Amino acid sequence: MKPFDIVIVGGGGAGLYAAMEAMKTNPALNIAVLSKVYPNRSHTSAAQGGANAALGNKAKDDTVEMHIFDTIKGSDYLADQDAVDVLCSEAPKIIRELENIGTPWSRMEDNTIAQRPFGGAGRPRCCYCADKTGHTILQTLYEQCLKKGVLFFNEYFALNLSLNGSRSRGLIAMNMKTGKVEAFTAKTVIFATGGYAKMYWNRSSNAAGNTGDGQAIAYRAGIPMKDMEFVQFHPTGLRKSGLLVTEGARGEGGYLVNKDGERFMSRYAPEKMELGPRDLVSRSIETEILQGRGFDSPAGKYVHLDLRHLGADLILSRLPQIREMSLNFEGVDPINEPIPVRPTAHYSMGGIDTDNFGRTVMDGVYAAGECACVSVHGANRLGGNSLLDILVFGRIAGHTAAEEAGKFQPGMIPESEVKECMDELRSKMQRSGHYERYGALREELGQTLAINVGIYRESSLLKKGIEDISELQERFTKVRVTDTSDVFNTNLMQVLELKNMLDLAETVAVGALAREESRGSHTRIDFPQRDDEAWHKHTLATLVDRKLIAGEKPVTMGRYELQERTY
Ligand code: FUM
Repeated sequence: MKPFDIVIVGGGGAGLYAAMEAMKTNPALNIAVLSKVYPNRSHTSAAQGGANAALGNKAKDDTVEMHIFDTIKGSDYLADQDAVDVLCSEAPKIIRELENIGTPWSRMEDNTIAQRPFGGAGRPRCCYCADKTGHTILQTLYEQCLKKGVLFFNEYFALNLSLNGSRSRGLIAMNMKTGKVEAFTAKTVIFATGGYAKMYWNRSSNAAGNTGDGQAIAYRAGIPMKDMEFVQFHPTGLRKSGLLVTEGARGEGGYLVNKDGERFMSRYAPEKMELGPRDLVSRSIETEILQGRGFDSPAGKYVHLDLRHLGADLILSRLPQIREMSLNFEGVDPINEPIPVRPTAHYSMGGIDTDNFGRTVMDGVYAAGECACVSVHGANRLGGNSLLDILVFGRIAGHTAAEEAGKFQPGMIPESEVKECMDELRSKMQRSGHYERYGALREELGQTLAINVGIYRESSLLKKGIEDISELQERFTKVRVTDTSDVFNTNLMQVLELKNMLDLAETVAVGALAREESRGSHTRIDFPQRDDEAWHKHTLATLVDRKLIAGEKPVTMGRYELQERTY
């Protein structure tokens, strides 16, 4: 295969925006997108609620500066303020750009783009397409990429960066249709593979494929991960499946109610109520449940999200998918009954450490979207800032890589390296004697994370979590891939995904034990206060000689001083 100028790993919103922008920056470039699934099935399609932007519509009385402040406050002051400036200033442009290329934003009666209130936001600024925003954005971007001639390698599983010393010469990936390992020599590689919250397994809103593949590949190549301990629990996952019930449901006026019929958020966020930031609302639900005011069921404890007072018309027009999912996965029609919900692992604030242009510490390697940590979300992301992040920083990373590709001249990836990868995969199928099955390990990983590295954390729990993860890593060395076929070997892929989750789970748990304070989504029962003196900094996790080495990095401050965070 001819060397590429840019190989983008991931076909979700960040990857597709990067591809579209790179093509626009230099149409002569040879650009490939590798995706584990068909791009229009990427997890971006599950993003229901919308993307924040201070559009300046008169009725909303909103400004970019308010968006910046809400984001910094929402992050519990851990976001880098220069990066937040970029995110929020670019937001109105990106929403309009998407509109111009065909995204069907929902409209107000005066035909302006509709915006709904979202948690932690001072104004209604979340632009949406009913409750299918990510899906519509993804379709729009995919169409544009095809139109511009981006080359797609769909159903390719990324395995490794190929390194020449400390430099990248491209990517090695497996063609899932044939089982063949292939080399993609490339001047630049952009990781846009999404998050890692599926490591919480059945307590997660994430797609099965959100296993942190890009982060794990970068980590194993020696690129630092940043702020991995910050995992966001979305307040309203469906009780049984953990699937997302959009914050838009509360934005439209939905209530959270405990078993005593109380709108309990008045205890925790008397002003913002259900529209407090996610960390606060999730903790509140968890506290209600822990203190015995939740409902009980064989599928676990939960509270109610009540939409009945919104009426059938609104539910059918603005929350149609929520109704469908409630019917299909809980057997409940929200027009007539409240929805059983509980917090669900939803988003990884941590990820590959990048600068504001998407660059990592390794020349020619970039990252964008949920797999990166720029950092614009700090310790807690606001709803509606994730779609925005993938669009803004996907575009920036695509532009930067296109501008810089000419600087790098990687040698071709040697055939011997491809063969080594193939042999390594085969060896997992040839194990004899006692062996482990990936399904059990994956389940146990999810359980230990949910119990020991969940919403409420504490030293002895975290130590137990780290011990469990280390034991699972040891057991993983004995995993056998029982399916030995080449074509669509999903058993092999699940094993590879498990390895990625295990590597990253260690960084999450170790980071959480180290951070002896409570900030944003990271709540330590044994250190309940935010400790700015000791912990107003980013944490780094770097793999050196197969060992996790902890480091740190200062937070970039700007106009906003540290303040107490109340809602
Ligand atoms: O609640 C939601 O619709 C999720 C949005 C987000 O994660 O930004």
